[in-house]
Amino acid sequence: MSNPYEIAQLGAKVLRQHAELVDQVDSPDIRQIINAMQTALAATEGVGLAAPQISRLKRIIIVASRPSSRYPNAPLMSPTIMINPVFEALSDDQEKDWEGCLSIPGIRALVPRYKAIQVQYSDEQGCAIEQKLEGFVARVFQHEADHLDGKVYLDRVESSADIISESEYFKLFTH
Ligand code: NI
Repeated sequence: MSNPYEIAQLGAKVLRQHAELVDQVDSPDIRQIINAMQTALAATEGVGLAAPQISRLKRIIIVASRPSSRYPNAPLMSPTIMINPVFEALSDDQEKDWEGCLSIPGIRALVPRYKAIQVQYSDEQGCAIEQKLEGFVARVFQHEADHLDGKVYLDRVESSADIISESEYFKLFTH
């Protein structure tokens, strides 16, 4: 599938850098980054995207859980733009589940994440939003927030045995 925006691939320096806080949400520059992220994500079957993945080092993510061939069991939600997102775990409980990343094609891995988190972010209008997220959506949030700190999901894998090829991953869902 062709994408009008190049998704930075593992090895690109931009994926290992710390993204800057957005200080003025309502600006042409930020608007342009958000539009670019929406366009880039829409061209994929991804469930989230972080600005560094289109080589923009700003603290902006999109969380867009939806069932697709890449994530057959994902819940459906409307894509949500989150600016300067932060979170706190609501308990120490973590669970391992499969993740992939548009910046690391061809593989999946089991990644431990907090099951329930309280998140804060600014929306596109600059309103402060607080929400409780659980399960898969909480996982996507934590994955995308990591990108803002120069981390990728492979950094959190407990064992290299938890990393598999995407073709083997798809076999898990087709019986
Ligand atoms: Ni990713």
